[in-house]
Amino acid sequence: MHDQPAPHATWLSPDTPARYGTVSRALHWAMAAGFAWIFASAIAHATARDSALDSLLWPTHKHVGSVLMALALLRAAWALAQARQRPPGVSVLARLGHGALYALMLAIPAIGLLRQYGSGRAFAPLGLPLMPGFDASQKMEWAVNLGGLLHGELGWALLALVVGHIAAALWHQRPGSTPVLRRMMG
Ligand code: HEM
Ligand code: HEM
Repeated sequence: MHDQPAPHATWLSPDTPARYGTVSRALHWAMAAGFAWIFASAIAHATARDSALDSLLWPTHKHVGSVLMALALLRAAWALAQARQRPPGVSVLARLGHGALYALMLAIPAIGLLRQYGSGRAFAPLGLPLMPGFDASQKMEWAVNLGGLLHGELGWALLALVVGHIAAALWHQRPGSTPVLRRMMG
């Protein structure tokens, strides 16, 4: 009787070597939905500028990207806290791939926000007054240039990596392999 875990223990379960817990799963799938949205906005903007889809999605790009930045910081902190007990990567490639996903998940929105700040224009993601803006003559050229140079390029690189990541997860469903999907869902 006393061995039964308290209900809240399963609701906010930590990771174990056999599976990701609820916090890791919630972060993974909520962010996957956010990335699906933001990549849809980037693809519509790059391929069908001013179409109905672009007009619908593009105005949300910076806001969804800012939320993803906040979630990526939380997720990185949580991953560090859980590092000793979460499922081990199935290979060196998997560990390197996950590391690269983290690096890009943090760098891309950070560079986007830095460019936004450097432009001197006010910015209030989801109405939250994050950047009050300043005199445009004081514009930080280096931050704007860095964004122009890297933000979109790294964004497309992340999209390619995500496609590889999904393919790898499905590839591991074959008989005889480690069925990694079960660690993150089900
Ligand atoms: C993880 C989050 C993000 C991803 C994956 C992402 C991805 C991308 C991609 C792939 C493009 C290229 C679109 C094109 O070629 O037309 C782009 C453009 C852009 N993004 Fe983001 N973005 C993110 C977050 C942000 C944030 C937080 C901001 C600003 C607050 C931002 C501002 C912009 C702007 C202004 C552009 C158009 C200029 C350019 O192509 O560099 N993005 N983004
Ligand atoms: C349909 C989409 C996706 C599927 C099916 C999927 C599947 C998985 C699976 C099965 C794992 C566990 C791997 C293991 O135990 O070795 C995992 C982990 C991971 N995935 Fe995904 N994933 C998806 C989308 C994404 C996206 C969009 C990102 C980031 C941009 C991402 C980033 C990660 C990271 C960093 C990990 C390592 C665990 C963590 O810290 O959360 N995934 N994914």
